[in-house]
Amino acid sequence: MAGKIPQNFINELIDRTDIIDIIDSYVPLKKTGKNHKACCPFHDEKTPSFSVNQDKQFYYCFGCNASGTVITFLMEYLHMDFVEAVEDLASRAGMEVPRESGSSFDQTNQSAKLYALMESATKYYSDQLENNKNNIINYLKKRNINKATAIEFELGFAPPGWDNLIINLGKSKELIKELLDIGVIIKSDRGGQYDRFRDRLMFPIRDQRGRVIGFGGRVLNNDTPKYLNSPETRIFQKGRELYGLFQARKSIKDLSELYVVEGYMDVIALAQFGIKNVVATLGTAATNEHIEKMFRITNKLIFCFDGDEAGERAAWRALENSLSFLKNSKQVYFIFLPSKEDPDTFVRKNGKDAFISPEMLTPLSEFLFNSIGNNINLEVLEGRSEMINKTLPFLAKLPHDPYKDIVIKKLSEITRYEIDDIQRQLSTSNKNDLVEKKVGKSSKEKNRGIEKVRWLIRCLLHQPSLALVLDIKSTSSLSALDSSGINFLCELIKLIKETPNITVAGILENWRNTKFEARLCELASEEDEFKEIGVTNEVFVDAIDGLIEAHQKEFETFKTKSSPLELSEKEKLKYREMQKSTQDT
Ligand code: CTP
Ligand code: MN
Repeated sequence: MAGKIPQNFINELIDRTDIIDIIDSYVPLKKTGKNHKACCPFHDEKTPSFSVNQDKQFYYCFGCNASGTVITFLMEYLHMDFVEAVEDLASRAGMEVPRESGSSFDQTNQSAKLYALMESATKYYSDQLENNKNNIINYLKKRNINKATAIEFELGFAPPGWDNLIINLGKSKELIKELLDIGVIIKSDRGGQYDRFRDRLMFPIRDQRGRVIGFGGRVLNNDTPKYLNSPETRIFQKGRELYGLFQARKSIKDLSELYVVEGYMDVIALAQFGIKNVVATLGTAATNEHIEKMFRITNKLIFCFDGDEAGERAAWRALENSLSFLKNSKQVYFIFLPSKEDPDTFVRKNGKDAFISPEMLTPLSEFLFNSIGNNINLEVLEGRSEMINKTLPFLAKLPHDPYKDIVIKKLSEITRYEIDDIQRQLSTSNKNDLVEKKVGKSSKEKNRGIEKVRWLIRCLLHQPSLALVLDIKSTSSLSALDSSGINFLCELIKLIKETPNITVAGILENWRNTKFEARLCELASEEDEFKEIGVTNEVFVDAIDGLIEAHQKEFETFKTKSSPLELSEKEKLKYREMQKSTQDT
């Protein structure tokens, strides 16, 4: 595995690639005026609001706000990760991806070793299943898991004993350290180490890219704990990973819907019955990260948890965590199984067709209203207002979308409370939130300064060439001003001066994976600016001068304070900086 990809290579790659060609090969584009348009590939629509701008090398959808560069497009549309997207574009452009050496190289290299060792452990466990003289084959028979399924999910067996892995894979001190790092062996109190998984059926857990990152191990009898999982390690974070996702995506290219279940066994049993679009959270609730990840590859999630109280609680958590994602036709459904059943037992008893029947599905809205309304008497107005009050916090989490409107309409029908009134209640509670957030925020004056800087950044994103008209004097006075916004502005100017032909896409790629990325993308997509309004060089230079002037006024005010004692420590520092910068220029 290699090190980091140098930023100047990314800049050159963006420069050599034409976003129109790439997107057009997946989503046929039609040229209309300055932009190329299509129906958005990221949400359902009938009239095109997806627009790609060749000058900016940037796409934007007015319907769902999807936006980004050609790299973003490959990541979102083809679900590539960043490196894959860069490699893909490079090979189209006939370029070799260079790598930086140094610490990041060591880190990637180190992870690569851990992944490789995980692979060896997987192989070791699956060999044990093949060679088995123990009860494991009987156990699989008892659970009706056939050979093809065992192979598809690479099931394995960790034999009884304390040092199998160490004997087979831990041939050096370094390897033992790595086995500890991946969590398959444990340090003992006496300074030695022993196998974590003993006499267990093993489930390797692969990430979306197909790398083994952890294991689950099930006992073959009624011992406890029933399942033992890999601990969180450098390469394994439970709150993000989904068991079966790799296999599901391998079997089905376009996942129109995805079942989410609780257990390893549930994934495997459903797959054996030909239901391959199934994943399981790893013994945790479905987190926001899980849901976001799944909604990137499908529009419809179906949560199917065990038919018990824990299952119902898990469903409610999934509902709460899903609400903020429900826009652009994203949908959530639930399957509530009969008591004491889980997907595994249900499908074996009732078969595939029963499981996938649409009758099984409860839409999220129905689950929400039924759960809240469960003990409320809607015949009396006290009950109806209780219903409204209890539902409002959930509605507030829904993003603006027709879905939200019709859920509100439904609440209005249930409670006979006017739609407008519900909306008024929602907006007053939103306003209260905003007021709370504003408390303690900087003064209006300061906000206005930030607004100016933001406007300048936006101008540069849309017309990078503006930076080229700034002379050295104004850039250096600007860089002497000390505020994080202005520092950013200076960085941006510097980048454009170094790469005069840079597009907005090139700019964005320089801040990918930083805290500025999302905000920059937003600024780059703002509708008004996207319509080529154009800012003249003079207007831009005036604005920069204005910013410097405003700052110098502040400096004068400092000077009029008669003694340094009147300045706070912070002001003193700033004063000194300012003095320095006026001397320099
Ligand atoms: N789990 C766990 N640790 C436990 C019990 C459960 O990590 N001690 C996780 C596992 O990921 C398991 C899931 O929670 O797959 C669901 O648990 P359960 O329903 O008990 O397991 P099943 O997958 O149904 O397994 P089986 O049918 O073999 O009982
Ligand atoms: Mn089960």
